Amino acid sequence: MPRTAIAAIGTFVPERVVTNADLTRLMETSDEWITQRTGIQERRWVEPGVGAADLAEAATRQALDRAGWRPGDIEAIVFASLSPDHMFPGDGCFLNARLGLPGVPALDVRNQCSGFLYGLSVADAWIRTGTYRRVLLVGAEVHSTGLDVSTRGRDVAVIFGDGAGAALLEATDDPDRGVLAVRLHADGRHARDLWTDAPGSVYSPRSRVEDIASGATYPHMEGQKVFKHAIVRMPEVVREVLAAAGHGTADLKLLVPHQANLRIAEAVQRSLELRDDQVFNNIQRYGNTTAASIPLCLAEGAEARGLRRGDLVALAAFGAGFTWAGALLRW
Ligand SMILES: CC(C)(COP(=O)(O)OP(=O)(O)OC[C@H]1O[C@@H](n2cnc3c(N)ncnc32)[C@H](O)[C@@H]1OP(=O)(O)O)[C@@H](O)C(=O)NCCC(=O)NCCS
Repeated sequence: MPRTAIAAIGTFVPERVVTNADLTRLMETSDEWITQRTGIQERRWVEPGVGAADLAEAATRQALDRAGWRPGDIEAIVFASLSPDHMFPGDGCFLNARLGLPGVPALDVRNQCSGFLYGLSVADAWIRTGTYRRVLLVGAEVHSTGLDVSTRGRDVAVIFGDGAGAALLEATDDPDRGVLAVRLHADGRHARDLWTDAPGSVYSPRSRVEDIASGATYPHMEGQKVFKHAIVRMPEVVREVLAAAGHGTADLKLLVPHQANLRIAEAVQRSLELRDDQVFNNIQRYGNTTAASIPLCLAEGAEARGLRRGDLVALAAFGAGFTWAGALLRW
C-alpha cells in the first residue's frame, strides 16, 4: 500500500502587517498584554475584496512551482477553512475554477484549527487506497473581515490573522517517507465555547440586524476553557500518533503545533518534555491563522530546521468544536 508524502508546501500571507501597536488604535489593549498572553507581535490582514480562495490560490501556485507540478497534475482538492468566501459553495470549487481544473473533485473541510489535519486524514486515505495519487490539501483563512476590532471583541481580535498554506501530497512507495499515522477527535459539548453564532440556518431570516448589533456575528471564545483543554489534548494526541507508529518523543526531529497561542505551544512542549530544537513556532509573526497555521509553520520550520528526508515530524492541532488531531510523518 502506498504512503502519503509531501511533495512541496507553498504559503501566502497578505502584505499588510498589523502590529500590536496598530491594534491599540482600534481598541483598548497594549503590546505588553498581547505579547505576554499570546506571544503574538504582528499578524497579516487582507485588503478589502480579498478572500480565502485568493490566498489559497497564491499558496497553491507557490507549491506547484516548488514541486515542479502543473495544475493538471492535481487529481483532487481538499480545502480546509472556517472563513470561506461565501456561505456556499465552499472554496474548494472556487479554487478548482481558478486552477482551471473542471471535473477535479473538491472537498471542503469545516474543522477550524484542526481542519488541515482532518483534511490530511482524508487525503491520506485516498492515497493509501489508490483512489487518487496526487492531492492538493490547502488551509486558508481570512479572519480580519470577521473580527470585532472594538474593545468588546479584543480577547479574540488580537489573536487571529489571515494566511494560507498548501501542501501537494503524492503517493510514494518509499518505506522511509510519508504519513505514518493520523488521529482525529472531537467533543461537541464544547461547540459553543469557541464559535460564531450567526448568521445560521436556525435563524429566520439567517442574517438579522439584531445579531449585528449584539455581536452574534463575531467569533466568541471562552479563552481559559480553550487554553485548559488545548494543553491537555495536544500532548495526548501527539503521544497517540507516536505510539501508533511505535515511536517515542525522543525520536521526534520536529513538532509543529497548531499556532493557537505561544503559551499553549510552550505548555505542550513542556508536557512532552521536548527540547527547544524539537519544536517550531511562528505565531509571533502571523497570529493564529486556524486551518492555515500548520502548513504555514511546517513550511517555515522545515526550512529553518533543515528537515531532511526521513526525519520524524509530528503535527498537532486543537480548536473550535472542540476538535483536535495529530499526525506523524517521515519527511
Ligand atoms: C484569550 C486569552 C489570551 C486571555 O487570557 P486570560 O489570561 O484568560 O485573560 P482573561 O480572559 O481572564 O482576561 C483578563 C483580563 O484581560 C482583559 N483582556 C482581554 N483581552 C484583552 C486584550 N486584547 N487587551 C487587553 N486586555 C484584554 C479582559 O477583559 C480581562 O479584564 P478584567 O480582568 O478587567 O475582566 C487566553 O485565555 C488564551 O490564550 N486562551 C486560548 C485562546 C486560543 O488559543 N484560542 C485559539 C484557539 S484555537
